[in-house]
Amino acid sequence: MITLQLRSLDQANDFQAVRNIIMDCVDYAMIVNGEPPAQKDVTDFFTDTAPGKSQDDMLKLGIEENGDCIGIAEIAQNFPLNHTWHIGLLLLHSSWRRRGIGRYVIQKIEERARLASGTQLRIGVVQENTEALLFWEKLGFKEVNRIPERSFGIKKHTIIELARAIQ
Ligand SMILES: CC(C)(COP(=O)(O)OP(=O)(O)OC[C@H]1O[C@@H](n2cnc3c(N)ncnc32)[C@H](O)[C@@H]1OP(=O)(O)O)[C@@H](O)C(=O)NCCC(=O)NCCS
Repeated sequence: MITLQLRSLDQANDFQAVRNIIMDCVDYAMIVNGEPPAQKDVTDFFTDTAPGKSQDDMLKLGIEENGDCIGIAEIAQNFPLNHTWHIGLLLLHSSWRRRGIGRYVIQKIEERARLASGTQLRIGVVQENTEALLFWEKLGFKEVNRIPERSFGIKKHTIIELARAIQ
């Protein structure tokens, strides 16, 4: 039986666990940055904040199965507007995908957001990440905006922003 938990992560204790996930997700790094994951991506996971937000607004979560970290998520609360929870990253270890875990994690994030007066979940996906787009659309997210090309690593992407009302 799969037993999942979401737990807040911190750099001092969880660096290696996050590194394991990021380094496993070469496919994701190649799509987004056009280059394999690097140590800096791990540090950035812990230190990044959404524009105009502080670390207090950010949630850095580990997805744990029987105590093992099998994925990570990053959320900016009240970004870009109050009551919107913006999912900056959702990354599952390649061996744990397509088993309903992504759907479960979004359900749990939605529960937390609702308790914190959130009314909308939002995500930005690079247009080239067609598999992720299928996932978000399957979960009922709808396109709300397109951000014209910006640079990621050695690539340039249009970002498709999708949103779903919190039920
Ligand atoms: C995208 C990701 C988070 C989805 O999580 P997951 O656990 O694999 O997805 P689930 O198994 O919960 O799937 C939920 C639904 O989305 C669909 N879906 C998931 N991945 C899909 C894919 N690659 N292609 C088509 N449909 C997909 C599933 O079929 C499922 O629909 P169903 O319940 O009707 O069968 C995960 O695959 C991942 O970490 N991918 C690599 C990183 C990435 O691209 N993250 C997103 C950044 S925006």
